[in-house]
Amino acid sequence: MKKQVLITNRLPEAAYQLLSKHFHVTYNKTQLTEAQLVAKVKPFHGILCTLADPISAQVLAAAPLLECVANFAVGFNNIDLKAAKERKIWVTNTPDVLTEATADIAWALLLSCARRLPEGEKMIRRGQFKGGGALMLLGQDLVGKTLGIYGFGRIGKAVARRGKGWDMPVIYHQRHRESAKVEKHYNARYVSFETLLKNSDYLSVNSPLTPETKLRFTSREFAKMKPTAVFVNAARGAIHCEADLVRALKNRQIASAGLDVYEFEPKIDSGLLSLPNCTLLPHIGSATIGTRTQMAVLAAQNLELALRGRRPKTPVTP
Ligand code: NAP
Ligand code: GLV
Repeated sequence: MKKQVLITNRLPEAAYQLLSKHFHVTYNKTQLTEAQLVAKVKPFHGILCTLADPISAQVLAAAPLLECVANFAVGFNNIDLKAAKERKIWVTNTPDVLTEATADIAWALLLSCARRLPEGEKMIRRGQFKGGGALMLLGQDLVGKTLGIYGFGRIGKAVARRGKGWDMPVIYHQRHRESAKVEKHYNARYVSFETLLKNSDYLSVNSPLTPETKLRFTSREFAKMKPTAVFVNAARGAIHCEADLVRALKNRQIASAGLDVYEFEPKIDSGLLSLPNCTLLPHIGSATIGTRTQMAVLAAQNLELALRGRRPKTPVTP
């Protein structure tokens, strides 16, 4: 008897092709709620899911045969790791293959905010461009400005590496200081969280969402940033408080924000939608054809290995 696998949503075909060689695959193609997952998961040995799927303790409890949850994402805050560990269920993610694409999106947001691209775009599309003006849409320079990074991991470092092209000194904050060699390589200096807030001209959030990082950026933090600062979050929306961010942008406590992720995703604070000084993207950090294909292959390989009783390539749970 072949083991049973559930793919929870539409993915690059590579995942289905690889898994269907070895397993009986149920390919669901619409977003499932937690209740729908609970009702569905009973027969499955493996689940290939996306970050929009809440793999809660209740979902895991409803899947008595489950051996592995392979997340199609590097972040795994959608999965109850504690419950998975208790059941000795493998949880895997897709690190590395999406690092460069996600760093590109963080930089796209950063550049867009610095040079006020959404306002310029809107002006053109509304037919309001009547010729250049010396004082029209003045943005901010990048060369030599300080790039602050919250969460100096794979993606944070790739964001920093791009800053070299603009001769940007990098400051970073996370729980552990990197080695002197790494700091030298990235032209980066370890600073306290307060210094990161105070000294960053551009602040990029690249940490995972954890109980410690949840709502790390609120009114209190935005008030400490430069009024010219650009805040970029291409990590997880709940790391900042969206209502507080709207207030900070309205009151010009910071200059602008570039977001790929939202506190209550896919819901977006209506205040953000009407603000000119923000660039808003629909969680497309890793959305290139090449990257998403690599993620699908890696997630499927992880699941295949686990269901064959072998160690997956990129496990989150030991
Ligand atoms: P990573 O290599 O594990 O890096 C995460 C970094 O965050 C680590 O260096 C870690 O350092 C730091 N960190 C952890 N807890 C922290 C805390 N309490 N305070 C400050 N820093 C903390 O992960 P990655 O591959 O770079 O991915 C980072 C995140 O990006 C993912 O978790 C995911 O949520 C998000 N992401 C979003 C997209 C998108 O589409 N927008 C795409 C890919 C990833 P310490 O352990 O020293 O603190
Ligand atoms: C995307 O958000 C990821 O975590 O891979």
